Order: sequence, then structure tokens, then C-alpha cells
Amino acid sequence: MKKILIVGVGSIGRRHIENFSNFFSEIDIAEINKERISKACNDFNINQSFEDYTIALESNNYDAVAITAPPFMHLPVAKVAVSKNCHVFIEKPLGMSVTGWNEISDICKENNLINYVSFHHRHIPYVKRLKEILDSGKYGKVLNANMRWGSYLPDWHPWEDYRSFYMAKKEQGGGALLDESHGIDLIRYLIGEPKRVAAFVGNVSDLEITSDDVAFLTMELENGSYVQINFDLLSRYPRVSLEIVLSDGSIYMDRVDHVLRIYDAKLKEWREESWSKEEFMSAYQVQAKHFFDCISNNAKSLTDIADGIKTQRVIDMSFKSSETNSFQQIRV
Ligand SMILES: NC(=O)c1ccc[n+]([C@@H]2O[C@H](COP(=O)([O-])OP(=O)(O)OC[C@H]3O[C@@H](n4cnc5c(N)ncnc54)[C@H](O)[C@@H]3O)[C@@H](O)[C@H]2O)c1
Repeated sequence: MKKILIVGVGSIGRRHIENFSNFFSEIDIAEINKERISKACNDFNINQSFEDYTIALESNNYDAVAITAPPFMHLPVAKVAVSKNCHVFIEKPLGMSVTGWNEISDICKENNLINYVSFHHRHIPYVKRLKEILDSGKYGKVLNANMRWGSYLPDWHPWEDYRSFYMAKKEQGGGALLDESHGIDLIRYLIGEPKRVAAFVGNVSDLEITSDDVAFLTMELENGSYVQINFDLLSRYPRVSLEIVLSDGSIYMDRVDHVLRIYDAKLKEWREESWSKEEFMSAYQVQAKHFFDCISNNAKSLTDIADGIKTQRVIDMSFKSSETNSFQQIRV
């Protein structure tokens, strides 16, 4: 019998209700929007609902709390959840900045609380395959990589005006750089830790948002390779891709078409491996099981807060680089 509280039942919160219901025996929700509470209670098997997450946490004992509200709420909710001895599942990005997260990570360590940050791309089957290929060394060492991650914000949530979605609001943690930080996590996971970054983060479109609609990051990694990333919220057609140039080949991952294209320089040949959309979507279910296994079966959290802090630091330093026109060191 395990009980979870899900804080925020917007787009991703609803998806997590579905996935966690395969593992947790009771699901409670906390959400400030009454209509979203009603809809979730209609659509799913919800035990209890609250408009205030602090009341939920005061009046119940939960095994875990899933923080699926906008980024500006991640730290305040995490503080209360760990003070109540709950394991925490935190949506990406970790938060607004690294500030305050070391303390939460320490409390988790002291009290043996599982903490997981939802960089779920690591659970996509072809990301795992790509990691396996890179780790095998078959195509030599990584020399450089280019990542492209863009889509059109007004197309994201057809049920609401994009201007009222938190993504449009800088103070709530919207914007291309914070949101598309899956890409930074993937570079760290697949290729290596960034050493320094130079970035442009800004607004170039006519979108009515206070958050950034574009970010260009140029990074040197600790292993000596160079990486460029271009995130945006203004591409009329979605593109999510990563091209990795190695000493003995190239690998291109397309996360819209779900393929890996691999060039073998010794054979002078391309080959392709492909996956279905269902296999791509399975990552959410695999992730829910992973979190449950961490809580119940001693599995080790793949992306804990300490790891999430490393991605967040790249985000923080990219904002700083853009504001100060300078390279920023990632390691402190
Ligand atoms: N891992 C992924 O694939 C993925 C996908 C989408 C979103 N996300 C992340 O999930 C988070 C939410 O994104 P979303 O797209 O679901 O946003 P959303 O706006 O659709 O949903 C967020 C919900 O949180 C609610 N909320 C705000 N303040 C609250 C509070 N104090 N207490 C309770 N509820 C509160 C809002 O009313 C809203 O319903 C963000 O951090 C985002 O980056 C992750």
C-alpha cells in the first residue's frame, strides 16, 4: 500500500496520475485550479483532492509527493514534502535556479528519502541505445555535437491561450532554456559534463511572452569536445535532434521521427535504426516504474537532485553568460 500526492494536475500532472496509478494504491491531488480538480476527479480514480498542497501534507501521511506544478513552485513544495518525510518526484527543470536545492538534497540524504528529477528522456529506448553505442567506443571519441530543439509555443496546449500558460511567464519559470533543459541533461548523460558555456538567451519573435523564446549555448565539455545547442519556442515545425560527430563516424538522433542514423567511417556506410511513437511514449511508464522501484525495491535514482543541480547550473550560467556577454565556468 503506497500513497502519493500529485501537486499540479495540468498537462504533465494528468499523465503522471495515469502512470503512477499502475503502482500506487492511493492517489491524492492538490491543484489551485478548481476546474482542473473536477476534471481530474472525473477522469481518474482520485482518493482525495485539495486546493492547497500544505493542507494535504498537514492532514495526511504520504509515501511520496510528485511535484508537477510550474518550476517556481518546485522548491517551496519540495521543502514541505521533505519536512514531512516524503520521497519526492520533481518535474524538470529542477527549479528556477540552484539556490536552495543543496539543502533539500542534504535533508533527503539524512532521512533516506528518494529524490528523482524527471529528465525522462533518459528512459527513451533509442536514447538508451545511443548511450550504449557511444559507451562501446565503436565509433571512436566524440569530437563535437549539435543539438536542435524547437517548437511553436502557441501549438503546445490547444485548450488554453498560450499567454496565460506559465511557459509565457518568466517569473513562473517559463522559457525555452528552462523548459528544453532535457537537452542539457542529455548532453551530460550521453557525452560528458560541461566545463564552460557562452550563451545568447533572449526574445526574437512576436510571441507575447516575458520568458525567453530562444537560447543558443556553446559549450566546452570537460572531455575537450565542443557542443552547440539551439533551443526555441518559435519553430513552426517541431525539431528535436542531436548530431554527434565522432573520430570514426557520426550519429544523428531524430526525436521527432524516432530514428538513429549511424555513419561508419571505416565502412563508409550509413545505417538506420527506428522506433515507434508508442516506444517513445513508453518512457513515461518506465520512469514511473523506476521511481516506484526506488521507493519500494532499493533501486538507485537515475537522476537525483544532486544530478539535477548539475543541469540547473548549466542553465544558471547560460542566463548569466547572456546577461554579462562572457564565458561562464560551470564547475564551482
Ligand atoms: N518531463 C516532461 O516530459 C514534461 C512535460 C511537460 C511538462 N513538464 C514539466 O512539468 C511542470 C508543469 O508543466 P505543465 O506543462 O504540466 O504545466 P500546466 O500549466 O499544464 O500544469 C501545471 C499545473 O500546476 C498548477 N499549479 C500552479 N501552482 C500551483 C500550486 N501552488 N499548487 C498546486 N497546483 C499548482 C496549475 O494550476 C496547473 O494546472 C513544469 O515544470 C514542466 O517543465 C515536464
